[in-house]
Amino acid sequence: SAAEKGGWDSFMDKEIHEDPAAVQRTLLGRFDDSGAIELDEVRIDEHDFKAIDKIIVVACGTASYAGQVAKYAIEHWVRIPVEIELAHEFRYRDPILNARTLVVAISQSGETMDTLMALRHAREQGSKVLAICNTQGATIPRESDAVLYTHAGPEVAVASTKAFVAQITAAYLLGLYLAQVKGTMFRDEIRQQVDSLKDMPRKIQWVLDTQTAAVEQAAERMANAQSFLFLGRHVGYPVALEGALKLKEIAYTFTEGFAAGELKHGPIALVDAGEPVVFIVPPERGRSVLHTKVISGIEEVKARGATIIAVAEEGDKDVQRYADVVFWRPACPTLMSPLVDVVPLQLFAMNMAKIKGYDVDKPRNLAKSVTVE
Ligand code: G6P
Repeated sequence: SAAEKGGWDSFMDKEIHEDPAAVQRTLLGRFDDSGAIELDEVRIDEHDFKAIDKIIVVACGTASYAGQVAKYAIEHWVRIPVEIELAHEFRYRDPILNARTLVVAISQSGETMDTLMALRHAREQGSKVLAICNTQGATIPRESDAVLYTHAGPEVAVASTKAFVAQITAAYLLGLYLAQVKGTMFRDEIRQQVDSLKDMPRKIQWVLDTQTAAVEQAAERMANAQSFLFLGRHVGYPVALEGALKLKEIAYTFTEGFAAGELKHGPIALVDAGEPVVFIVPPERGRSVLHTKVISGIEEVKARGATIIAVAEEGDKDVQRYADVVFWRPACPTLMSPLVDVVPLQLFAMNMAKIKGYDVDKPRNLAKSVTVE
């Protein structure tokens, strides 16, 4: 009903606007005044935690992309390998698991059968399983050794939005907690990351407040496009995959996401005059090598007549020069950028679907939670 949608046109619209609150609520109560991480609910004891030497994330769909984002942060912070595996692939390939492997099962619903079967397999092999889940008491957290709940609130629209930003937030907290337990970061560094995370709800809100009109115009302009390419590097890569998934799921537009570095190894063959290409452009500061490389990718497709849509940091001059459409992000550290960058892509997919007259909350052929293998 209209009341349930809180005045929004659709649940998806409402839920995208809850992105800031989803991050904020997921952070709530999980660090103390000094910025030290407190995850009381994670009942794996410190001794076992210290011994963890590998993480394998198992998940499907959007949740797997959240895991893929977290890999960049956790490997950087904790200095242990993080693998991401689609749950349905994981189980059937005889993965290498032992008591020092932490398997992280990410699931909004907590009922995805593929993910559940993967975690059962991991536990049988003697690994600890930690669930990152948005649904209290669901099967996946019940069958895990520990659970870190995302507090995004109930998600009704089939296409996952606020759960994604909450999953990244929770996985980052887990990474910082591991870094704290294993002593791979100084307390100051952990506090700095916590402070950056705490800034993100405000930055997401800024995107919602200032970029929505630009997104709507872009959707109007691109509504008839037959296909899209989404490209990103580093954490921008899984964001590109997620942006592409949203557009497929609800606007039924043929869309592929690629690592921007792969462009020259294949996807550039797809680029023709007028082809819309979405680039996730990393912040200019710090990791400027990444920035330069993404800009050169933009130049290459621009030279072939593509229409460039960029998600980029406010004031980025290179982007201003080349892009046909820009969705701006407020300045933030690279590792935090996925939390803001996905927001215009969620809005873009929703607007495309609306313009085409589709039911944004209930896309054809899809279920909110897939409880069969
Ligand atoms: C379905 C939904 C996706 C979701 C995936 C994983 O395919 O359509 O939006 O990302 O399941 O769901 P989960 O509840 O495990 O996060």
